[in-house]
Amino acid sequence: MSTTEEAEASKMLLRNQYSFLISKIMFTASDLGVFDLLMESKEPLTSVTIAERLGTSPFGMERLLDACVGYKFLQVERKENQTLYGNTDLANLYLGKRSPKTHYYSMKFNAEFLYTRAQHLADSVREGETQTYGLKSSLREFMEFMREMWSPCGRVVLNAFDLSHFPLICDVGGCSGALAKEYISLYPNSTVTILDLPEVVETGKKHFVSSEEHRITFHKGDFLKDPIPEADLYILARILHCFTDENCVQLLTRLNKACKPGGGVLVVEIVLNEDRSGPVEAQIFGLVMLLCTQGKERTPSEYNALLSAAGFKQIQQKKTGLFDVILGRK
Ligand SMILES: C[S@@+](CC[C@H](N)C(=O)[O-])C[C@H]1O[C@@H](n2cnc3c(N)ncnc32)[C@H](O)[C@@H]1O
Repeated sequence: MSTTEEAEASKMLLRNQYSFLISKIMFTASDLGVFDLLMESKEPLTSVTIAERLGTSPFGMERLLDACVGYKFLQVERKENQTLYGNTDLANLYLGKRSPKTHYYSMKFNAEFLYTRAQHLADSVREGETQTYGLKSSLREFMEFMREMWSPCGRVVLNAFDLSHFPLICDVGGCSGALAKEYISLYPNSTVTILDLPEVVETGKKHFVSSEEHRITFHKGDFLKDPIPEADLYILARILHCFTDENCVQLLTRLNKACKPGGGVLVVEIVLNEDRSGPVEAQIFGLVMLLCTQGKERTPSEYNALLSAAGFKQIQQKKTGLFDVILGRK
């Protein structure tokens, strides 16, 4: 390595060693209300004013704001001898609790629940399974976290294939109903049944899907044991990566049996490159799955094998930015 390369490498080493703090920085600034305050003030503010309005120490707030500038959550300018902090577009759109497409619960889940779980990553790697330490995130907050992802990605994912010839949809493990809402707005003649565990369905009805939304219904059940509602298309978004290969084939076989003739299954996951070289999101989620579930991220041929084993044919796959979409036909 040349001296310049070595200097670059040590910079990267340092950054990587502290990168676990990024999640904490992002969430702390959001939770304290920094992004909401700057969004609502409509003008950049000094660190002293921000600290005063949010009831924190000016010394601590200045450190937090500078770190947010470093990671491009905030921007900074010098004007009339003052240092002024303002939101970036990313912060306005996603990082405030009151941002139009807030990722507050996603940040909270990762900075609190996953962060604590990650303290036991070495144990999970040694044992090859999730370690249960009695830590739970609240169901409502988990559902908010699940919901948030589909505001930037839902429409793109559902547009990957023309699904207009599938009017009767079952969103298997459909959780908050966020993807179901995108589906019915995209395909006006469709209806969606959300199949999920009883406590999730109760919370979904109470907090996420209004009873006036007649084209979305809920169905309580365990998809590995209970009867599966009949449908033209089964959506499995972020489900298979939570399960072992054995459970995936069991679930997919049950869906294949319940599926109407000509119907299919739509799998939405972050898929690993065939040679496992990336994308980094799939590689990271592989570890997240190890920490939280029995599952893993898979390559295209691994998904192909699961769908084929369950009887699905004509398997097609499309990349849509972060998520990949796989359509299999009965
Ligand atoms: C990772 S979340 C994905 C939620 C949703 N599909 C999305 O992408 O936003 C997994 C969902 O599957 C549901 N689930 C897990 N095991 C289940 C089972 N055996 N029967 C029914 N639902 C289940 C969970 O309650 C949760 O809502």
